[in-house]
Amino acid sequence: MTKTEEIKRRRTFAIISHPDAGKTTITEKILYLGNIIREAGEVHGKAGKKAATSDWMTMERERGVSITSSVMQFEYRGFRVNLLDTPGHKDFGEDTYRTLIAADSAAMLIDAGKGVEERTRKLFEVCHLRSIPIYTFANKMDREGKEPLELIDDVENTLGLHCYPVTWPIGMGDRFKGLYHRLDKKLYLYTKGEEDPVVHDVTGYNDPKIKELVNYDELYDKFYEDIELLEGALMPWDQEAFMSGKLTPMTFGSAKFTWGVDIFLDLYAKYSPEPMPRKANIGEVDPHADFFSGFVFKIQANMDKRHRDRVAFLRVCSGEFQRGMKVQHQRLGRELRLAYANTFMARDRETVDQAFAGDIVGIIDTGNFQIGDTITDGKKLTYDEMPRFSPECFARLAIKDPLKRKQMQKAVGQLSEEGAVQIFIDPRVGEQDPVIGVVGELQFDVLLYRLNEEYNLDVKLERLPLSVARWPRYKEDAPGQKAGLPPESIKGGGILYQDSKEQPVVLLAKEWDLQWLLKENPNLEFSFTGN
Ligand code: G4P
Repeated sequence: MTKTEEIKRRRTFAIISHPDAGKTTITEKILYLGNIIREAGEVHGKAGKKAATSDWMTMERERGVSITSSVMQFEYRGFRVNLLDTPGHKDFGEDTYRTLIAADSAAMLIDAGKGVEERTRKLFEVCHLRSIPIYTFANKMDREGKEPLELIDDVENTLGLHCYPVTWPIGMGDRFKGLYHRLDKKLYLYTKGEEDPVVHDVTGYNDPKIKELVNYDELYDKFYEDIELLEGALMPWDQEAFMSGKLTPMTFGSAKFTWGVDIFLDLYAKYSPEPMPRKANIGEVDPHADFFSGFVFKIQANMDKRHRDRVAFLRVCSGEFQRGMKVQHQRLGRELRLAYANTFMARDRETVDQAFAGDIVGIIDTGNFQIGDTITDGKKLTYDEMPRFSPECFARLAIKDPLKRKQMQKAVGQLSEEGAVQIFIDPRVGEQDPVIGVVGELQFDVLLYRLNEEYNLDVKLERLPLSVARWPRYKEDAPGQKAGLPPESIKGGGILYQDSKEQPVVLLAKEWDLQWLLKENPNLEFSFTGN
Protein backbone atom coordinates (compact mmCIF):
# COMPACT_ATOMS: atom_id res chain seq x y z
CA MET A 1 0.00 0.00 0.00
CA THR A 2 1.29 3.47 -0.79
CA LYS A 3 1.77 6.14 1.84
CA THR A 4 -1.21 8.06 0.45
CA GLU A 5 -3.43 5.00 0.70
CA GLU A 6 -2.24 4.31 4.23
CA ILE A 7 -3.07 7.85 5.34
CA LYS A 8 -6.44 7.80 3.60
CA ARG A 9 -7.52 4.70 5.53
CA ARG A 10 -6.65 6.14 8.96
CA ARG A 11 -9.56 6.94 11.23
CA THR A 12 -9.12 8.49 14.67
CA PHE A 13 -11.95 9.06 17.09
CA ALA A 14 -12.89 9.31 20.74
CA ILE A 15 -16.05 8.47 22.64
CA ILE A 16 -17.50 11.27 24.74
CA SER A 17 -20.01 10.54 27.48
CA HIS A 18 -21.03 11.11 31.06
CA PRO A 19 -19.91 8.45 33.58
CA ASP A 20 -22.13 5.35 33.54
CA ALA A 21 -23.61 6.02 30.11
CA GLY A 22 -21.93 2.80 28.95
CA LYS A 23 -18.60 3.86 27.45
CA THR A 24 -16.68 0.87 28.80
CA THR A 25 -19.39 -1.48 27.61
CA ILE A 26 -19.60 -0.04 24.10
CA THR A 27 -15.79 0.11 23.81
CA GLU A 28 -15.66 -3.59 24.55
CA LYS A 29 -18.29 -4.30 21.95
CA ILE A 30 -16.56 -2.15 19.36
CA LEU A 31 -13.25 -3.90 19.96
CA TYR A 32 -15.04 -7.22 19.82
CA LEU A 33 -16.60 -6.36 16.48
CA GLY A 34 -13.21 -5.06 15.39
CA ASN A 35 -11.94 -8.52 16.32
CA ILE A 36 -9.30 -7.39 18.73
CA ILE A 37 -10.55 -9.27 21.68
CA ARG A 38 -11.96 -12.72 21.48
CA GLU A 39 -14.72 -12.17 23.96
CA ALA A 40 -16.18 -8.91 25.10
CA GLY A 41 -15.28 -8.56 28.73
CA GLU A 42 -11.72 -9.62 28.26
CA VAL A 43 -10.47 -6.05 28.54
CA HIS A 44 -11.71 -5.89 32.09
CA GLY A 45 -8.50 -7.50 33.30
CA LYS A 46 -7.82 -9.21 36.55
CA ALA A 47 -8.31 -6.20 38.78
CA GLY A 48 -11.95 -6.42 37.85
CA LYS A 49 -14.29 -3.98 36.30
CA LYS A 50 -13.06 -0.91 34.46
CA ALA A 51 -9.45 -1.94 34.19
CA ALA A 52 -9.99 -1.34 30.51
CA THR A 53 -10.28 2.37 30.91
CA SER A 54 -7.41 4.38 32.19
CA ASP A 55 -7.54 3.35 35.76
CA TRP A 56 -3.79 3.45 35.47
CA MET A 57 -2.73 4.56 38.89
CA THR A 58 -4.19 1.62 40.72
CA MET A 59 -3.28 -0.77 37.96
CA GLU A 60 0.27 0.43 37.75
CA ARG A 61 0.70 0.26 41.47
CA GLU A 62 -0.68 -3.22 41.53
CA ARG A 63 1.28 -4.61 38.68
CA GLY A 64 4.36 -2.44 38.77
CA VAL A 65 4.19 -2.05 35.04
CA SER A 66 2.79 0.50 32.77
CA ILE A 67 -0.36 -0.89 31.32
CA THR A 68 -2.45 1.46 29.36
CA SER A 69 -5.24 1.44 26.93
CA SER A 70 -5.18 5.13 26.17
CA VAL A 71 -5.36 4.29 22.50
CA MET A 72 -6.78 1.16 20.99
CA GLN A 73 -6.05 0.38 17.39
CA PHE A 74 -7.94 -2.06 15.24
CA GLU A 75 -8.78 -2.84 11.65
CA TYR A 76 -12.37 -2.46 10.54
CA ARG A 77 -13.52 -2.91 6.95
CA GLY A 78 -10.19 -1.85 5.54
CA PHE A 79 -9.82 1.08 7.91
CA ARG A 80 -7.14 1.42 10.51
CA VAL A 81 -9.04 2.83 13.45
CA ASN A 82 -7.44 4.60 16.43
CA LEU A 83 -9.93 4.73 19.27
CA LEU A 84 -8.77 7.23 21.86
CA ASP A 85 -9.81 6.73 25.44
CA THR A 86 -11.23 9.77 27.18
CA PRO A 87 -10.71 9.08 30.87
CA GLY A 88 -13.89 9.46 32.90
CA HIS A 89 -14.96 8.81 36.47
CA LYS A 90 -12.23 9.51 39.00
CA ASP A 91 -9.52 9.86 36.39
CA PHE A 92 -11.28 12.61 34.49
CA GLY A 93 -8.86 15.47 34.00
CA GLU A 94 -7.42 17.97 31.59
CA ASP A 95 -6.02 15.04 29.60
CA THR A 96 -9.57 14.03 28.78
CA TYR A 97 -10.07 17.32 26.95
CA ARG A 98 -6.62 17.22 25.38
CA THR A 99 -7.31 13.82 23.92
CA LEU A 100 -10.15 15.33 21.94
CA ILE A 101 -7.68 17.68 20.27
CA ALA A 102 -5.97 14.63 18.80
CA ALA A 103 -9.19 13.10 17.44
CA ASP A 104 -10.67 13.72 14.00
CA SER A 105 -14.21 12.86 15.05
CA ALA A 106 -16.14 11.91 18.17
CA ALA A 107 -18.91 9.51 19.09
CA MET A 108 -21.24 10.95 21.68
CA LEU A 109 -22.79 8.28 23.85
CA ILE A 110 -25.99 9.20 25.64
CA ASP A 111 -27.90 7.23 28.22
CA ALA A 112 -31.36 7.24 26.65
CA GLY A 113 -32.91 7.40 30.09
CA LYS A 114 -31.04 10.54 31.05
CA GLY A 115 -30.38 12.50 27.90
CA VAL A 116 -27.47 14.94 27.58
CA GLU A 117 -25.67 15.05 30.93
CA GLU A 118 -23.18 17.56 32.25
CA ARG A 119 -19.91 15.86 31.37
CA THR A 120 -21.14 15.13 27.88
CA ARG A 121 -21.96 18.78 27.43
CA LYS A 122 -18.46 19.85 28.46
CA LEU A 123 -16.74 17.33 26.23
CA PHE A 124 -19.04 18.34 23.41
CA GLU A 125 -17.92 21.97 23.85
CA VAL A 126 -14.35 20.93 23.09
CA CYS A 127 -15.42 19.07 19.95
CA HIS A 128 -17.53 22.03 18.98
CA LEU A 129 -14.56 24.40 19.33
CA ARG A 130 -12.81 22.37 16.66
CA SER A 131 -15.94 21.77 14.55
CA ILE A 132 -15.23 18.05 14.25
CA PRO A 133 -17.89 15.59 13.06
CA ILE A 134 -19.89 13.97 15.86
CA TYR A 135 -21.90 10.75 15.88
CA THR A 136 -24.53 10.12 18.51
CA PHE A 137 -25.44 6.77 19.99
CA ALA A 138 -28.46 6.65 22.29
CA ASN A 139 -27.70 3.75 24.59
CA LYS A 140 -29.67 1.54 26.97
CA MET A 141 -32.71 1.13 24.75
CA ASP A 142 -33.29 -2.16 26.56
CA ARG A 143 -34.55 0.00 29.44
CA GLU A 144 -37.50 2.35 29.63
CA GLY A 145 -36.14 5.81 28.96
CA LYS A 146 -36.97 9.12 27.38
CA GLU A 147 -38.99 9.08 24.19
CA PRO A 148 -36.64 9.18 21.17
CA LEU A 149 -38.18 12.46 20.01
CA GLU A 150 -37.53 13.93 23.43
CA LEU A 151 -33.89 12.86 23.16
CA ILE A 152 -33.55 14.64 19.84
CA ASP A 153 -35.06 17.76 21.37
CA ASP A 154 -32.61 17.50 24.21
CA VAL A 155 -29.57 17.24 21.92
CA GLU A 156 -30.79 20.06 19.72
CA ASN A 157 -31.66 22.40 22.59
CA THR A 158 -28.85 21.63 25.02
CA LEU A 159 -26.06 21.44 22.47
CA GLY A 160 -27.42 23.35 19.50
CA LEU A 161 -26.63 20.34 17.37
CA HIS A 162 -29.03 19.19 14.64
CA CYS A 163 -29.88 15.49 14.66
CA TYR A 164 -30.32 13.16 11.77
CA PRO A 165 -31.71 9.89 13.15
CA VAL A 166 -30.22 7.18 10.95
CA THR A 167 -32.09 4.49 12.80
CA TRP A 168 -35.40 4.71 14.61
CA PRO A 169 -36.33 2.41 17.46
CA ILE A 170 -39.47 0.34 17.62
CA GLY A 171 -40.38 0.11 21.29
CA MET A 172 -38.06 0.34 24.26
CA GLY A 173 -37.32 -1.51 27.48
CA ASP A 174 -38.86 -4.97 27.59
CA ARG A 175 -40.94 -4.08 24.57
CA PHE A 176 -37.95 -3.14 22.40
CA LYS A 177 -38.43 -4.87 19.07
CA GLY A 178 -35.82 -3.44 16.80
CA LEU A 179 -34.49 -0.62 14.65
CA TYR A 180 -35.49 0.75 11.31
CA HIS A 181 -32.49 1.94 9.26
CA ARG A 182 -33.61 5.01 7.34
CA LEU A 183 -30.62 5.21 4.97
CA ASP A 184 -30.30 1.50 4.17
CA LYS A 185 -34.04 0.77 4.32
CA LYS A 186 -33.62 -2.26 6.54
CA LEU A 187 -35.46 -3.54 9.55
CA TYR A 188 -33.35 -5.03 12.36
CA LEU A 189 -35.25 -7.24 14.79
CA TYR A 190 -33.61 -8.20 18.07
CA THR A 191 -34.26 -10.83 20.67
CA LYS A 192 -32.72 -10.58 24.13
CA GLY A 193 -30.02 -13.15 24.58
CA GLU A 194 -29.40 -13.52 20.86
CA GLU A 195 -26.51 -11.54 19.61
CA ASP A 196 -27.34 -11.28 15.94
CA PRO A 197 -30.40 -9.45 14.72
CA VAL A 198 -32.68 -10.76 12.01
CA VAL A 199 -32.38 -8.25 9.20
CA HIS A 200 -35.08 -7.62 6.60
CA ASP A 201 -34.90 -5.51 3.47
CA VAL A 202 -37.91 -3.23 3.13
CA THR A 203 -38.97 -0.64 0.58
CA GLY A 204 -39.21 2.19 3.11
CA TYR A 205 -40.69 3.06 6.49
CA ASN A 206 -44.20 2.65 5.09
CA ASP A 207 -43.61 -0.87 3.76
CA PRO A 208 -46.55 -2.95 5.15
CA LYS A 209 -44.05 -5.73 5.80
CA ILE A 210 -42.77 -3.79 8.82
CA LYS A 211 -46.17 -3.89 10.51
CA GLU A 212 -46.40 -7.60 9.88
CA LEU A 213 -42.90 -8.30 11.17
CA VAL A 214 -43.24 -6.11 14.26
CA ASN A 215 -46.53 -7.81 14.99
CA TYR A 216 -47.44 -5.41 17.79
CA ASP A 217 -49.93 -2.79 16.69
CA GLU A 218 -49.40 -0.29 19.46
CA LEU A 219 -45.64 -0.22 18.96
CA TYR A 220 -45.93 -0.10 15.22
CA ASP A 221 -48.41 2.79 15.31
CA LYS A 222 -46.11 4.78 17.56
CA PHE A 223 -43.14 4.07 15.29
CA TYR A 224 -45.09 5.12 12.21
CA GLU A 225 -46.34 8.30 13.83
CA ASP A 226 -42.83 9.28 14.99
CA ILE A 227 -41.15 8.60 11.73
CA GLU A 228 -43.71 10.51 9.68
CA LEU A 229 -43.00 13.45 11.90
CA LEU A 230 -39.25 13.06 11.44
CA GLU A 231 -39.43 12.92 7.70
CA GLY A 232 -41.21 16.27 7.66
CA ALA A 233 -39.70 18.18 10.54
CA LEU A 234 -35.99 17.46 10.69
CA MET A 235 -33.06 18.67 8.66
CA PRO A 236 -32.27 16.28 5.77
CA TRP A 237 -28.89 14.57 5.61
CA ASP A 238 -26.25 17.15 4.78
CA GLN A 239 -22.69 15.91 4.45
CA GLU A 240 -21.16 19.34 4.84
CA ALA A 241 -23.14 20.10 7.99
CA PHE A 242 -22.01 16.73 9.37
CA MET A 243 -18.35 17.36 8.51
CA SER A 244 -18.38 20.71 10.28
CA GLY A 245 -20.03 19.29 13.40
CA LYS A 246 -23.40 20.98 12.95
CA LEU A 247 -25.44 17.86 12.19
CA THR A 248 -25.07 14.57 14.02
CA PRO A 249 -26.15 11.22 12.66
CA MET A 250 -27.98 9.56 15.53
CA THR A 251 -28.36 5.85 16.13
CA PHE A 252 -30.05 3.91 18.90
CA GLY A 253 -29.24 0.66 20.62
CA SER A 254 -27.99 -1.16 23.65
CA ALA A 255 -24.30 -1.64 24.24
CA LYS A 256 -25.08 -4.29 26.83
CA PHE A 257 -26.97 -6.47 24.35
CA THR A 258 -24.85 -5.40 21.33
CA TRP A 259 -27.93 -3.94 19.65
CA GLY A 260 -27.12 -1.36 17.03
CA VAL A 261 -23.37 -1.32 17.73
CA ASP A 262 -22.62 -2.86 14.32
CA ILE A 263 -24.89 -0.30 12.69
CA PHE A 264 -22.99 2.45 14.43
CA LEU A 265 -19.63 1.05 13.32
CA ASP A 266 -20.76 0.63 9.72
CA LEU A 267 -22.02 4.18 9.70
CA TYR A 268 -18.76 5.31 11.19
CA ALA A 269 -16.79 3.44 8.54
CA LYS A 270 -18.89 4.97 5.80
CA TYR A 271 -18.85 8.62 6.84
CA SER A 272 -15.92 9.21 9.17
CA PRO A 273 -13.32 11.69 8.03
CA GLU A 274 -9.82 10.75 7.00
CA PRO A 275 -7.01 12.71 8.69
CA MET A 276 -7.61 16.42 8.23
CA PRO A 277 -5.14 19.27 7.81
CA ARG A 278 -3.93 20.74 11.11
CA LYS A 279 -3.19 24.35 11.98
CA ALA A 280 0.42 25.33 12.53
CA ASN A 281 2.40 28.55 12.58
CA ILE A 282 3.20 28.09 8.87
CA GLY A 283 -0.48 27.63 7.96
CA GLU A 284 -2.43 24.40 7.62
CA VAL A 285 -0.36 21.26 7.26
CA ASP A 286 -1.70 18.65 4.85
CA PRO A 287 -1.54 15.09 6.23
CA HIS A 288 -0.13 14.04 2.85
CA ALA A 289 2.72 16.57 3.02
CA ASP A 290 6.12 15.12 2.15
CA PHE A 291 7.51 15.50 5.66
CA PHE A 292 6.77 13.88 8.99
CA SER A 293 5.29 15.99 11.79
CA GLY A 294 3.22 15.54 14.91
CA PHE A 295 2.46 16.95 18.33
CA VAL A 296 2.34 15.62 21.87
CA PHE A 297 -1.15 15.84 23.38
CA LYS A 298 -0.77 13.84 26.55
CA ILE A 299 1.96 12.67 28.86
CA GLN A 300 1.38 9.78 31.15
CA ALA A 301 3.69 9.80 34.11
CA ASN A 302 4.60 6.45 35.52
CA MET A 303 3.79 6.38 39.18
CA ASP A 304 5.91 3.35 39.86
CA LYS A 305 9.32 4.30 41.22
CA ARG A 306 11.04 1.43 39.47
CA HIS A 307 9.81 2.71 36.13
CA ARG A 308 10.43 6.42 35.98
CA ASP A 309 9.85 6.65 32.25
CA ARG A 310 6.85 8.45 31.01
CA VAL A 311 4.88 7.93 27.84
CA ALA A 312 4.36 10.89 25.54
CA PHE A 313 1.40 10.42 23.23
CA LEU A 314 2.01 11.77 19.78
CA ARG A 315 -0.58 12.50 17.16
CA VAL A 316 1.06 12.03 13.78
CA CYS A 317 -0.19 14.94 11.64
CA SER A 318 1.68 14.50 8.40
CA GLY A 319 3.75 11.95 6.56
CA GLU A 320 5.20 8.77 7.92
CA PHE A 321 6.71 7.91 11.25
CA GLN A 322 9.47 5.29 11.45
CA ARG A 323 10.80 3.71 14.57
CA GLY A 324 14.33 4.82 15.30
CA MET A 325 13.98 7.92 13.14
CA LYS A 326 15.77 11.12 14.00
CA VAL A 327 13.45 13.98 14.72
CA GLN A 328 13.76 17.67 15.41
CA HIS A 329 12.26 18.71 18.72
CA GLN A 330 10.99 22.18 17.83
CA ARG A 331 10.80 23.71 21.31
CA LEU A 332 14.20 22.43 22.41
CA GLY A 333 15.71 23.02 18.98
CA ARG A 334 17.40 19.67 19.31
CA GLU A 335 17.64 16.41 17.46
CA LEU A 336 16.28 13.29 19.13
CA ARG A 337 16.19 9.68 18.12
CA LEU A 338 12.85 8.02 18.75
CA ALA A 339 14.12 4.60 19.60
CA TYR A 340 10.99 3.36 21.29
CA ALA A 341 7.51 3.81 20.03
CA ASN A 342 4.47 1.89 20.96
CA THR A 343 1.04 1.45 19.71
CA PHE A 344 -1.58 0.34 22.14
CA MET A 345 -3.74 -2.63 21.46
CA ALA A 346 -6.47 -3.56 23.86
CA ARG A 347 -4.16 -5.37 26.23
CA ASP A 348 -0.55 -5.07 25.30
CA ARG A 349 1.86 -2.52 24.14
CA GLU A 350 3.18 -3.42 20.77
CA THR A 351 6.20 -1.90 19.24
CA VAL A 352 5.49 -0.15 15.99
CA ASP A 353 7.91 0.26 13.15
CA GLN A 354 5.76 2.54 11.12
CA ALA A 355 2.86 4.90 11.63
CA PHE A 356 1.09 7.40 9.38
CA ALA A 357 -0.71 10.69 9.64
CA GLY A 358 -3.79 10.06 11.76
CA ASP A 359 -2.14 7.47 13.99
CA ILE A 360 -1.34 7.89 17.64
CA VAL A 361 1.93 6.54 18.92
CA GLY A 362 3.31 6.39 22.43
CA ILE A 363 6.91 7.41 22.83
CA ILE A 364 8.91 6.44 25.87
CA ASP A 365 10.05 9.77 27.25
CA THR A 366 12.82 10.48 29.69
CA GLY A 367 11.77 14.07 30.24
CA ASN A 368 12.16 15.72 26.86
CA PHE A 369 8.51 16.30 26.13
CA GLN A 370 5.85 18.70 27.28
CA ILE A 371 2.23 18.83 26.24
CA GLY A 372 1.88 20.62 22.94
CA ASP A 373 5.44 19.94 21.72
CA THR A 374 5.90 19.58 17.98
CA ILE A 375 8.34 17.19 16.39
CA THR A 376 9.18 16.91 12.70
CA ASP A 377 11.79 15.24 10.54
CA GLY A 378 13.47 18.57 9.95
CA LYS A 379 10.81 20.97 8.74
CA LYS A 380 10.54 24.09 10.91
CA LEU A 381 7.00 24.39 12.17
CA THR A 382 5.00 24.45 15.39
CA TYR A 383 1.46 23.20 15.74
CA ASP A 384 -1.03 25.50 17.40
CA GLU A 385 -0.66 25.52 21.11
CA MET A 386 -2.82 23.21 23.14
CA PRO A 387 -5.56 25.30 24.74
CA ARG A 388 -5.93 25.41 28.51
CA PHE A 389 -9.35 24.19 29.64
CA SER A 390 -11.44 25.52 32.48
CA PRO A 391 -10.49 23.77 35.72
CA GLU A 392 -13.24 22.56 38.03
CA CYS A 393 -11.28 22.22 41.27
CA PHE A 394 -9.26 25.01 42.83
CA ALA A 395 -6.94 25.22 45.82
CA ARG A 396 -4.02 27.02 47.37
CA LEU A 397 -1.03 25.12 48.65
CA ALA A 398 0.11 25.27 52.23
CA ILE A 399 3.62 24.11 53.04
CA LYS A 400 4.71 22.67 56.35
CA ASP A 401 8.20 24.13 56.29
CA PRO A 402 7.96 27.86 55.45
CA LEU A 403 11.64 27.92 54.48
CA LYS A 404 10.79 25.78 51.50
CA ARG A 405 8.21 28.19 50.10
CA LYS A 406 10.45 29.40 47.25
CA GLN A 407 11.24 25.83 46.30
CA MET A 408 7.54 25.01 46.21
CA GLN A 409 6.84 28.00 43.96
CA LYS A 410 9.48 26.79 41.55
CA ALA A 411 8.16 23.23 41.56
CA VAL A 412 4.59 24.34 40.94
CA GLY A 413 5.82 26.57 38.11
CA GLN A 414 7.53 23.59 36.50
CA LEU A 415 4.48 21.37 36.88
CA SER A 416 2.31 24.07 35.36
CA GLU A 417 4.67 24.38 32.39
CA GLU A 418 4.40 20.64 31.92
CA GLY A 419 0.62 20.98 31.84
CA ALA A 420 0.05 18.95 35.03
CA VAL A 421 -1.83 21.84 36.70
CA GLN A 422 -2.77 25.44 35.92
CA ILE A 423 -1.81 28.42 38.03
CA PHE A 424 -3.67 31.68 38.43
CA ILE A 425 -2.21 34.77 40.04
CA ASP A 426 -4.56 36.73 42.24
CA PRO A 427 -3.66 40.45 41.73
CA ARG A 428 -4.41 41.09 45.42
CA VAL A 429 -2.00 38.43 46.62
CA GLY A 430 0.75 38.24 44.06
CA GLU A 431 2.92 35.49 42.63
CA GLN A 432 4.03 33.94 45.86
CA ASP A 433 0.67 32.29 46.53
CA PRO A 434 -1.01 31.30 43.27
CA VAL A 435 -4.36 29.58 42.93
CA ILE A 436 -3.93 26.08 41.52
CA GLY A 437 -6.62 24.78 39.20
CA VAL A 438 -7.19 21.28 37.86
CA VAL A 439 -9.94 19.74 35.77
CA GLY A 440 -10.17 16.51 37.77
CA GLU A 441 -9.37 15.40 41.32
CA LEU A 442 -6.82 12.87 40.15
CA GLN A 443 -4.62 15.76 39.01
CA PHE A 444 -4.48 17.02 42.61
CA ASP A 445 -3.47 13.56 43.79
CA VAL A 446 -0.74 13.47 41.18
CA LEU A 447 0.37 17.00 42.13
CA LEU A 448 0.75 16.16 45.82
CA TYR A 449 2.43 12.89 45.01
CA ARG A 450 4.93 14.51 42.68
CA LEU A 451 5.68 17.44 44.99
CA ASN A 452 6.40 14.92 47.66
CA GLU A 453 8.31 12.34 45.61
CA GLU A 454 10.18 14.49 43.15
CA TYR A 455 10.68 17.70 45.10
CA ASN A 456 10.58 16.38 48.63
CA LEU A 457 7.99 18.93 49.69
CA ASP A 458 5.39 18.30 52.35
CA VAL A 459 2.36 20.29 51.24
CA LYS A 460 -1.34 20.40 51.89
CA LEU A 461 -4.21 21.57 49.73
CA GLU A 462 -6.49 24.31 50.94
CA ARG A 463 -9.61 24.06 48.85
CA LEU A 464 -11.24 27.16 47.41
CA PRO A 465 -14.96 27.52 46.73
CA LEU A 466 -14.46 27.96 42.97
CA SER A 467 -15.37 25.66 40.07
CA VAL A 468 -15.17 27.65 36.85
CA ALA A 469 -12.55 29.62 34.91
CA ARG A 470 -13.45 31.74 31.92
CA TRP A 471 -11.18 33.75 29.66
CA PRO A 472 -12.83 37.06 28.65
CA ARG A 473 -12.30 38.34 25.11
CA TYR A 474 -13.86 41.03 22.98
CA LYS A 475 -16.66 39.84 20.73
CA GLU A 476 -16.64 40.18 16.93
CA ASP A 477 -18.92 43.20 17.05
CA ALA A 478 -17.44 44.97 20.09
CA PRO A 479 -17.23 48.66 19.08
CA GLY A 480 -13.71 50.07 18.88
CA GLN A 481 -12.11 46.81 20.00
CA LYS A 482 -10.27 44.07 18.23
CA ALA A 483 -12.22 40.81 18.35
CA GLY A 484 -10.55 38.08 20.36
CA LEU A 485 -8.32 40.38 22.40
CA PRO A 486 -8.57 40.26 26.21
CA PRO A 487 -9.95 43.29 28.08
CA GLU A 488 -7.95 45.26 30.66
CA SER A 489 -10.79 45.16 33.14
CA ILE A 490 -14.35 43.94 33.44
CA LYS A 491 -17.52 45.34 34.94
CA GLY A 492 -19.71 43.68 37.52
CA GLY A 493 -17.18 43.25 40.28
CA GLY A 494 -15.27 40.39 38.69
CA ILE A 495 -11.59 40.08 39.58
CA LEU A 496 -9.20 39.41 36.72
CA TYR A 497 -6.68 36.79 37.68
CA GLN A 498 -3.71 36.13 35.44
CA ASP A 499 -2.96 32.71 34.00
CA SER A 500 0.49 31.31 33.26
CA LYS A 501 0.47 33.01 29.84
CA GLU A 502 -0.37 36.34 31.50
CA GLN A 503 -3.88 36.23 30.10
CA PRO A 504 -6.73 37.63 32.20
CA VAL A 505 -9.15 35.07 33.51
CA VAL A 506 -12.14 35.13 35.85
CA LEU A 507 -12.62 32.46 38.49
CA LEU A 508 -16.16 31.80 39.61
CA ALA A 509 -17.93 29.72 42.22
CA LYS A 510 -20.57 28.40 39.84
CA GLU A 511 -21.24 28.43 36.13
CA TRP A 512 -24.42 30.28 36.92
CA ASP A 513 -22.42 33.33 38.10
CA LEU A 514 -21.40 33.82 34.51
CA GLN A 515 -24.89 35.08 33.67
CA TRP A 516 -24.25 38.19 35.70
CA LEU A 517 -20.89 38.92 34.03
CA LEU A 518 -22.40 38.39 30.59
CA LYS A 519 -25.10 40.90 31.39
CA GLU A 520 -22.67 43.46 32.75
CA ASN A 521 -20.18 43.04 29.91
CA PRO A 522 -22.16 42.81 26.67
CA ASN A 523 -19.04 43.36 24.54
CA LEU A 524 -17.25 40.36 25.96
CA GLU A 525 -17.49 36.65 25.55
CA PHE A 526 -16.18 34.34 28.24
CA SER A 527 -14.37 31.37 26.78
CA PHE A 528 -14.09 27.91 28.27
CA THR A 529 -10.50 27.77 26.99
CA GLY A 530 -7.43 29.96 27.17
CA ASN A 531 -4.82 30.04 24.44
P1 G4P B 1 -19.05 4.04 31.66
O1 G4P B 1 -17.82 3.39 31.18
O2 G4P B 1 -19.63 5.03 30.70
O3 G4P B 1 -18.98 4.61 33.02
O4 G4P B 1 -20.20 2.93 31.76
P2 G4P B 1 -20.14 1.34 31.82
O5 G4P B 1 -19.93 0.78 30.47
O6 G4P B 1 -19.26 0.89 32.93
O7 G4P B 1 -21.66 1.09 32.19
C1 G4P B 1 -22.25 1.60 33.36
C2 G4P B 1 -23.39 0.69 33.77
O8 G4P B 1 -24.39 0.70 32.73
C3 G4P B 1 -22.99 -0.77 33.92
O9 G4P B 1 -23.84 -1.32 34.89
C4 G4P B 1 -23.32 -1.36 32.57
O10 G4P B 1 -23.54 -2.74 32.60
C5 G4P B 1 -24.59 -0.62 32.24
N1 G4P B 1 -24.86 -0.56 30.81
C6 G4P B 1 -24.04 -0.22 29.79
N2 G4P B 1 -24.67 -0.28 28.62
C7 G4P B 1 -25.94 -0.69 28.89
C8 G4P B 1 -27.07 -0.95 28.10
O11 G4P B 1 -27.08 -0.84 26.88
N3 G4P B 1 -28.21 -1.34 28.77
C9 G4P B 1 -28.26 -1.47 30.13
N4 G4P B 1 -29.40 -1.86 30.67
N5 G4P B 1 -27.20 -1.24 30.89
C10 G4P B 1 -26.05 -0.85 30.29
P3 G4P B 1 -23.35 -1.71 36.33
O12 G4P B 1 -24.54 -2.17 37.07
O13 G4P B 1 -22.57 -0.57 36.90
O14 G4P B 1 -22.34 -2.85 36.08
P4 G4P B 1 -22.58 -4.34 35.54
O15 G4P B 1 -22.69 -5.14 36.75
O16 G4P B 1 -23.83 -4.36 34.72
O17 G4P B 1 -21.36 -4.60 34.73
